[in-house]
Amino acid sequence: MISINNVSKIYKTNNKEFKALQEVSLNIKKNTIHGIIGESGAGKSTLIRLINGLEDYQDGTVDVFEYKNIIKLNMESSRMLKKRIGMIYQSFNLLERKTVLENVLMPISINGKVKPKDLQKAKNLINLVGLSEYINKYPNYLSGGQKQRVGIARSLINDPEILLCDEPTSALDPTTIKSVLDLLKDIKSKFNITVVIVTHDMYVIKEICDYVTVMENGKIIENGYVEDVFYHPVKTTTKSLLSSIGLNYELIVNNNKHIKNKYILFFDKSILNSSIITEVSMKFKTSINILYASITPNEKGVMVVQIPKNIEDIRHSLMKSGVVVENV
Ligand SMILES: Nc1ncnc2c1ncn2[C@@H]1O[C@H](COP(=O)(O)OP(=O)(O)OP(=O)(O)O)[C@@H](O)[C@H]1O
Ligand SMILES: [Mg+2]
Repeated sequence: MISINNVSKIYKTNNKEFKALQEVSLNIKKNTIHGIIGESGAGKSTLIRLINGLEDYQDGTVDVFEYKNIIKLNMESSRMLKKRIGMIYQSFNLLERKTVLENVLMPISINGKVKPKDLQKAKNLINLVGLSEYINKYPNYLSGGQKQRVGIARSLINDPEILLCDEPTSALDPTTIKSVLDLLKDIKSKFNITVVIVTHDMYVIKEICDYVTVMENGKIIENGYVEDVFYHPVKTTTKSLLSSIGLNYELIVNNNKHIKNKYILFFDKSILNSSIITEVSMKFKTSINILYASITPNEKGVMVVQIPKNIEDIRHSLMKSGVVVENV
């Protein structure tokens, strides 16, 4: 659906050149929530803005939907492409002098007359994001979370197939972050939209993303299923981002070098409701000490445990139940 191939992007200011993207290649699959994470200046916003043609690029190609190398599109095709892509921003980008309803209708009113069906659609979207009672209020009257909900409703007015979100929760407090992320997840399922979300917060990736791309200095340094990257992070930057949400199990392993007989267990959803650890402990009369446990949004789990004895029998028993046991 979105294919970025070997793209390099140079910003030129005051005769100085800055390479913001260096030979970046990335495929984003239809109907997924794809997170792009990295420190400030990594090139995340530049990358996401390539997708709807807001940034040009010097090398490589960007293909979106049926459009190849979108930088070369004529004005009409470029307009059609942009119409199929919605966008939401960290700072919400609402017009202070327009009401919630007028803001949501902006993408239509800016290009022509608002028809009764558009008005109805805007009302439905405002209802969907939970702001019906604020429909005629001005943005000043709203909290940050409510403003972002207006931004989300506005981004959906043209029935986009892709929703680009640049740091959509960075200006919000933790409780509001969760509710905005839940809304994005609902919207993705309800409208079968592909969501691309830029963030510097691993919590956002953990909460809603299927795939994650980690960026550093204009390059992609890690990319894959959230589970794979969470369980087998390779790069130091990825590991430190995971540590920020307490998800760096390697850290637990390294910080507990003095504890002998440690193992990492990987398991999936089917195991979650069973008391498998208790069962094997009892069966083999061994105490299993859990040093770390976590579960991802797709309900895969990882544990770091200490198993003092009978490891081969326990390993066999756990593996029969679908738990993968790795020595550390
Ligand atoms: N218009 C511009 N002109 C010159 N340099 C720019 C421009 N936009 C971005 N850059 C530079 O390109 C690099 C990547 O910027 P970008 O905005 O993509 O990073 P980011 O990962 O989104 O960072 P942040 O987390 O701070 O939003 C930065 O070093 C930035 O200073
Ligand atoms: Mg940015």
